[in-house]
Amino acid sequence: MSSDPPQVYLSSIDEERFGIRTARASNVTLDKLPSVLDFCRARDVVLLIARCLVSEFRAAQAMEREGFSLMDTLVYCSRNLVTTPIPKDSGKIMVRPIQPGDEDDVKFVAAESFRQYFGHYHADERLDRVKCHEAYISWALRSCVLGDVADEVLVAHLEGSIVGFFTLRLNSPEEGEAVVGGVVPSARGLGVYRSFIMRGMEWCLSKGATHMLVSTQITNIAVQKVWARLGFEPSYAYYTFHKWFDKP
Ligand SMILES: CC(C)(COP(=O)(O)OP(=O)(O)OC[C@H]1O[C@@H](n2cnc3c(N)ncnc32)[C@H](O)[C@@H]1OP(=O)(O)O)[C@@H](O)C(=O)NCCC(=O)NCCS
Repeated sequence: MSSDPPQVYLSSIDEERFGIRTARASNVTLDKLPSVLDFCRARDVVLLIARCLVSEFRAAQAMEREGFSLMDTLVYCSRNLVTTPIPKDSGKIMVRPIQPGDEDDVKFVAAESFRQYFGHYHADERLDRVKCHEAYISWALRSCVLGDVADEVLVAHLEGSIVGFFTLRLNSPEEGEAVVGGVVPSARGLGVYRSFIMRGMEWCLSKGATHMLVSTQITNIAVQKVWARLGFEPSYAYYTFHKWFDKP
């Protein structure tokens, strides 16, 4: 289970996007909720995006009493890469690391893959739809820049074009994580994402990691089907709540 300490901070990315003062809080617990609320009130925060482990049901109930609304649930799964061997990929989809010159194609693919995405921003009816889409597209774009967010970016080729991207990060010497991935709508259902997960496992193992972590919204059935078939197991989950401080 995740043991990161609670954290609350102003989110300049969200503030620039939506034009409202926004804070984010992770790992909220019942004990820490008052200090998270104090932090927001002292800084005139209008929107708070807060996450708590689903096992912290007392914190979730306290947030409900404080007027927070549930926006999504994130599930995390992991797989031991040492005790369970990685199956061999069929090799039908060509997957390779990003190369200089691929950047524009990858940006196009990231934007196309996330155009119809639905996340916690969309679930909040007070947020502008167009800006919600832009938020996910820009998150996908930021995630495929090597160095900042990702330690490795893989791309998939089909009939001479890049049709998918997949980013990986090493969280610790033992743990690798799939950060974000997407496949253009015209190439979906062909096993591109499955190949990414298999190559991702190989990358983690090559870096010395013993296990790989993956996460998504609980409603994203496509990726969870792929993980389940490749031996990933449920690990922990987070609720995402929004609280508007300007509501009466
Ligand atoms: C999720 C995504 C990466 C899947 O890529 P993909 O290359 O189509 O995935 P695969 O072909 O390897 O396998 C997906 C499986 O889920 C199935 N599937 C797809 N959409 C589904 C849905 N809405 N409900 C149930 N199953 C679904 C596919 O049919 C396939 O199963 P099958 O082999 O039995 O046919 C792609 O749809 C995408 O880019 N979505 C938007 C971005 C996103 O969600 N990224 C991942 C989270 S960061």
